[in-house]
Amino acid sequence: KDVKGKTAFITGGASGIGLGIAKAFYNAGANLVLADIRDDLLKSAAEHFDDPARVLCLKLDVTDREAYAAAAQQAEDKFGKIHLLFNNAGMGVGGPLAKLGFDDWDWGLGVMIGGVINGLQIVLPYIRKHGEGGHIVNTASKAALVPVTAFSIYGTAKAAMLGLSESIRGELAPENIGVSAFCPGPVQSNIGETGKIRPDKFKKDTGLLETEVQLAERPVSDLWMSAEECGERVLKGVLNNDLYILTHPEFKKGVEEKFNAILKSFPDEPINEERAKAIAFLLRN
Ligand code: NAI
Repeated sequence: KDVKGKTAFITGGASGIGLGIAKAFYNAGANLVLADIRDDLLKSAAEHFDDPARVLCLKLDVTDREAYAAAAQQAEDKFGKIHLLFNNAGMGVGGPLAKLGFDDWDWGLGVMIGGVINGLQIVLPYIRKHGEGGHIVNTASKAALVPVTAFSIYGTAKAAMLGLSESIRGELAPENIGVSAFCPGPVQSNIGETGKIRPDKFKKDTGLLETEVQLAERPVSDLWMSAEECGERVLKGVLNNDLYILTHPEFKKGVEEKFNAILKSFPDEPINEERAKAIAFLLRN
């Protein structure tokens, strides 16, 4: 696989991990579509790329289907084809259950699941139609593998990225379209600015406004991975067509414990061979 001359559509591409991915793919020769809800970050992101002919910056809220469809069309009009989709837009919405309101769930799942589904429904047909193959990366998180207590909206949305990626991978493989679930640990980014992008319509039934002010004050550690390194790992994962793209071996033990717990929870009974035949269509080999 080679990404030279291919076009990458990156949601949340103006900042953090999305911008890191953009840099890695740009350096490998890809054209970029950076789609982001924040104008200010789109402007500063554009300055990282010296050839404006290879970069299209679009202000887009991934939950707005009409605008998303128009953005995908604009991308195709400019570059001719779209090959790569990065469903990456997201934010740090979450807190203890006692603080959550419907606005938090609707906003969090609306962007981090709904926005991804919009990407699939809208951009995938563009990738399919030219027949050259491509790749979809869904940004999940370490939180999809090892849960974070009192962060259930985020955990729910990110686990959905695993289920989604695993479900569609086999389906798209015959068209040479790869699928990866990207599960990074802590990365240096602007995710602390989550409160800035919460739309007014999601500010009534929520107990998280104060939490989001505190999140903005949380220092970003130098020990967190740089977004650029993340981007390089994603590039490698795409070139390798890895289903899971992971960054931090620190979380391996937690994953091991989780899967051991799942394995232990199976009923300790012999397999019913007749039943196994009847449900063979559901068994993965
Ligand atoms: P970031 O805040 O630097 O970048 C996220 C970008 O998404 C921002 O530019 C934001 O404006 C954009 N965005 C948010 N809502 C949007 C919407 N409705 N439509 C379009 N764009 C929207 O944060 P970061 O950390 O780079 O986050 C990127 C992804 O990585 C998110 O999905 C996040 O959950 C995930 N992630 C982040 C980790 C971290 O430690 N920073 C770890 C694991 C996953």
